[in-house]
Amino acid sequence: MRDVVLLWMVLFLVPGYVVADDITLFEYWSRPLSIGEKTPYPENCGECHKRQYTDWIGSLHRRSVGPGLLSQLKPEEYPDYALSCYYCHAPAVEQNEMVRRGDGYVRNDSFDRRLKHSGISCVICHVRKGRIYGPVPSGDREGGHPFTVKDFFSSAEFCRVCHQLDGGYELNGKVLVNTYREWKESPYGKNNITCQHCHMPDRRHLFRGIHDPEMVRNGVDFEVRGGKEKITLLIKNTGVGHNFPTYVTPLVVVRGFVVDGSGTVVGGTLRESFVGRKVTLDLTEELFDTRIPPGGEFGFEYPVDGAKGKKIVLEVWVYPDEFYNRFFHSALEDTNSEDIKEALDITENSFYLLFREEVRIPERPM
Ligand code: HEC
Ligand code: HEC
Ligand code: HEC
Ligand code: HEC
Ligand code: HEC
Repeated sequence: MRDVVLLWMVLFLVPGYVVADDITLFEYWSRPLSIGEKTPYPENCGECHKRQYTDWIGSLHRRSVGPGLLSQLKPEEYPDYALSCYYCHAPAVEQNEMVRRGDGYVRNDSFDRRLKHSGISCVICHVRKGRIYGPVPSGDREGGHPFTVKDFFSSAEFCRVCHQLDGGYELNGKVLVNTYREWKESPYGKNNITCQHCHMPDRRHLFRGIHDPEMVRNGVDFEVRGGKEKITLLIKNTGVGHNFPTYVTPLVVVRGFVVDGSGTVVGGTLRESFVGRKVTLDLTEELFDTRIPPGGEFGFEYPVDGAKGKKIVLEVWVYPDEFYNRFFHSALEDTNSEDIKEALDITENSFYLLFREEVRIPERPM
């Protein structure tokens, strides 16, 4: 009798029971994916999951359908092109204006503009066909709704579906987006220290990356070495689980210059170096690739000569959207689009100072 009561409690009193489902990671992410019935907007989930919601609001996943993307697409006219971008930026069928039918495209009855503009929201990662999926629970559950446990939520392969391109876009023999592979081949990948470990610590939904100075400072170390003829700034990738930076979009600029006793920059002393993978706007040419692999370092040298009795200033600036900033500047030469102006306003102002140090150079070398 006691067993029957217990069974009854498990099945009916605890609403958050777990539903079994054998969907694979591959099926889970085959695009376009379908959200189905469950209330689709992040605000709905956020009513109860406040922590995940407030974290996610500040993340770039939330802004994956922003003016930068919208300005480049005409989904009704060029559905093929739009869908190639929606693959990562808006992968649910309910986010797509057009759907494939036979050889062509037709208007999508289930299109939901509000869902499209919510970007990579809760349901994109957690809901398929009206059913909620989540990782192996981290603590005691109280109430809630049914959901299906999938251990793939805690694997790097879950992020790979959008952070790795395997075919096409080869430049200089390297694919354009290779984050998962870089990770997989690094000591982090070999020891299965996952993307979530660094980007979702304690299952937080912040997804911080190159746009966040604090996150970047946690991943790189700086060392200034003195010398008779030159000083060297070493930038070391000590805590980034892939190349620093991994994409072609950011650029890290290293600057050295001399200031005199009153703090004025001495003319003609500026030297610059770049850490990043710079490509041309049409993606046909790689200009350089100086990214720092996990465990690697980048050296910037500045001659002491000419700085005696003065100070050498070393600075590292991060331009997280360098590629897109160039891109939007160039696009504005042919159009006057409000979306592009808005997008440019974001990319133009996202840079920040990551590191600065002043080194006093004695009049006479010691
Ligand atoms: C459905 C596709 C998709 C999935 C799944 C996905 N991402 Fe993203 N992610 C994106 C897109 C698109 C952006 C860029 C959004 C923008 O800026 O427009 C992004 C941005 C990011 C950024 C911010 C980068 C920066 O420049 O600061 C981080 C960090 C990140 N993702 C980590 C992850 C991790 C970790 C996972 C796995 C738990 C993951 N992503 C899963 C598509 C995805
Ligand atoms: C493989 C997944 C993927 C595909 C496909 C993809 N993107 Fe992105 N996109 C990303 C990620 C990830 C970022 C973030 C890069 C970063 O922050 O360094 C991004 C950033 C951007 C940005 C800058 C941030 C913003 O939202 O303004 C724009 C614009 C953009 N993508 C447009 C496009 C367009 C247009 C296409 C289709 C031609 C496309 N993307 C296809 C993953 C993808
Ligand atoms: C880019 C994909 C992505 C998005 C967007 C996303 N999540 Fe998650 N969520 C995950 C992953 C991955 C995990 C598991 C992380 C792990 O295992 O370390 C997770 C875990 C969770 C958990 C379990 C937390 C715990 O402490 O055990 C909840 C609840 C959750 N998400 C709710 C939400 C809500 C609500 C939103 C929208 C505000 C959201 N998620 C948006 C990928 C995502
Ligand atoms: C009425 C409140 C409520 C709403 C609305 C709600 N949830 Fe939940 N959810 C809960 C509770 C309570 C739990 C169980 C406690 C826990 O495990 O965090 C839960 C559990 C989960 C889990 C499993 C967490 C784990 O440990 O693996 C996920 C994932 C999740 N919810 C996602 C969502 C998403 C996505 C939405 C929106 C479509 C949503 N929830 C809407 C209350 C709610
Ligand atoms: C050991 C910690 C660590 C691991 C593991 C890790 N990352 Fe990162 N990631 C960082 C740090 C720190 C940054 C900020 C510096 C930078 O941008 O390179 C970053 C930046 C990023 C960015 C911003 C774009 C850029 O050009 O750098 C994306 C996207 C990203 N990571 C995705 C991933 C994905 C996907 C995985 C798993 C395949 C992953 N990361 C694994 C620490 C990690």
